[in-house]
Amino acid sequence: TDHYAVIGHPIAHSKSPVIHAAFARQTGQDLEYGRLLGALDDFAGDVRRFLESGGLGLNVTVPFKEQAWALADERSARAELAGAVNTLIRLDDGRLRGENTDGVGLVRDLTDNHGFDFAGARVLMLGAGGAARGVLQPLLGTGLARLVIANRTASKALELARLGRALGPVEGCGFDGLAGERFDLIIHATSAGLADAVPAIPDDCLAPDGWTYDMLYGDRPTPFCRWGSEHGAARVLDGLGMLIEQAAESFWLWRGVRPETGPVIASLRRPAS
Ligand code: ATR
Repeated sequence: TDHYAVIGHPIAHSKSPVIHAAFARQTGQDLEYGRLLGALDDFAGDVRRFLESGGLGLNVTVPFKEQAWALADERSARAELAGAVNTLIRLDDGRLRGENTDGVGLVRDLTDNHGFDFAGARVLMLGAGGAARGVLQPLLGTGLARLVIANRTASKALELARLGRALGPVEGCGFDGLAGERFDLIIHATSAGLADAVPAIPDDCLAPDGWTYDMLYGDRPTPFCRWGSEHGAARVLDGLGMLIEQAAESFWLWRGVRPETGPVIASLRRPAS
């Protein structure tokens, strides 16, 4: 049996073990996937011990993604730009490869699961922190017409846009820079929802057939999902599909097998009984 785990702090709430167990069952892969509560002052030690005990790979979540990036011996291009690693892969020679599957998960959920057409789309991303940076490269690879990154602190949006400039049509601004703009898709990537808040954006920045996507998810509609419903979004999506798609991409990187995500999304969407 091969061993994998998700490491974070806190970790008890993580759905990753359930998701990967479902993938393993479905694909007939012989693996165990556990939960590791990482020590806030010894992430590297915890990773080392897991690997020494035979572990083959880790998913990394809050607050360790930046440390995982630093710890990796080599990184994919998308992880490099993300500045964060959510998937560690032990290579045959013992070195650690860092990957970031969050952006692929976001794009795949929107396109494959929901049929969003990025070609020519005007996309707004709210937030310029770790969550936003983590998905930048895959988003800019979709063929979208324009990506505007808007952040409460405008300077951070401008800085993130500068990082992505070589990859696609991206600009940054503060929320006040959105006046008069219309978007086909608004992606929420701030942490405001954790405090039950919504970024202060204009009421009319969603185009008539526009969609909203919250990278957060919850048992009840998130604050930004409520914003989408209240502002007439054609589709209101939360981040559960992204969570499962990023897991599927990690699973594929480790095992070379692609699980079917649809049944797993459906089973996690059902309210626990
Ligand atoms: P994460 O990894 O979740 O992105 P982060 O790197 O700390 O966490 O970034 C938090 C993001 O949420 C930032 O874009 C932050 O805006 P600032 O850069 O202006 O701080 C944004 N954010 C947090 N609370 C917010 C709120 N109440 N309204 C708008 N944006 C908020």
